[in-house]
Amino acid sequence: MDDLKSKYLDLIANAGDEAAIEDIRLQAVGKKGEVALKMRELGKMTPEERQVMGPKLNALKDEINAALAAKKAALGDAALDERLRGEWLDVTLPGRARPQGTIHPISQVTEEVAAIFADMGFAVAEGPQIEDDWHNFDALNIPPHHPARQEHDTFFMHREPGDNRPPHVLRTHTSPVQIRAMQDQGAPIRVIAPGRVYRSDYDQTHTPMFHQVEGLAIDTDISMANLKWTLEEFCRAYFEVDEVELRFRASHFPFTEPSAEVDLRCSWNDGQLTVGQGDDWMEILGSGMVHPKVLEAAGIDASKYQGFAFGIGIDRIAMLKYGIPDLRAFFDSDLRWLRHYGFSALDVPTMRGGLSR
Ligand code: DAH
Repeated sequence: MDDLKSKYLDLIANAGDEAAIEDIRLQAVGKKGEVALKMRELGKMTPEERQVMGPKLNALKDEINAALAAKKAALGDAALDERLRGEWLDVTLPGRARPQGTIHPISQVTEEVAAIFADMGFAVAEGPQIEDDWHNFDALNIPPHHPARQEHDTFFMHREPGDNRPPHVLRTHTSPVQIRAMQDQGAPIRVIAPGRVYRSDYDQTHTPMFHQVEGLAIDTDISMANLKWTLEEFCRAYFEVDEVELRFRASHFPFTEPSAEVDLRCSWNDGQLTVGQGDDWMEILGSGMVHPKVLEAAGIDASKYQGFAFGIGIDRIAMLKYGIPDLRAFFDSDLRWLRHYGFSALDVPTMRGGLSR
């Protein structure tokens, strides 16, 4: 009995972790442990022997159990101390710095526009900002000596002297994405294409880089009436007003026939814009029915399909909606300006959750 006791107390004293303690417990006082085996031998003893050995064995079992419990507690404390040392945290350090920037109005408005058109079944399409001459001009029915080319104040990429291929350009509008989307997806198609465009121009309302969103809907039965409804629906949602009135003014773009510039009824009071009522009209976009030559250039059968297209200046509608006076400040990367006009990264615009709230 003394041998058993000293054997197990030694083992317990040297146990390194809780798993070792459990092994020792099973070996010593578990159901098939050494003490239990000894207990079984009690049955073969005389009543006198049993009276002496029974209590002794029970005492031994208690003693081993107590030693196990004490060791287990000590190991637990040591593990906790160790963990606390590892996870130590200086609560006197200053809190996490708040982000310096905010969501730029251009990003916000792009998200708002995408959310509105997504609700009407338009997917987002993309194209390159460095565009080839054919996609930017020819395919849009703007041949080499067309006056529209001059009006675009195009930035040309460099070509090696002697290389007489037409140079690539920084795309002057998002309209080439119409061509790429139709080439990729065919018809029917319904896409918008927001993105950067470039023209060599600079004053209070022009910067050499600015943003447009293109719209395109092609199917077998699309008319100018669908265009008007779509744009009215867009303006109502975007300007967050119940009623809007649009005026279609006959115009000319090489890539649409007929073409219309679209004005929005509004009023200005002390520099504050009200949309939907008043006696002023404000031009907000260009649009029209896609020219058959444009459809054919993009590989679409113009005898079967037709549809509308439009182009909106994102920067312009951002300035109008959020009362931002100078376009150039959009691109100054001035954090004070951004904190004033920017949006929270957590308020993602959706039609259900609200666009600008
Ligand atoms: N691409 C034209 C521009 O940059 C805007 C435009 C007008 C786009 C009419 C269109 C459209 O899709 O139908 O001035």
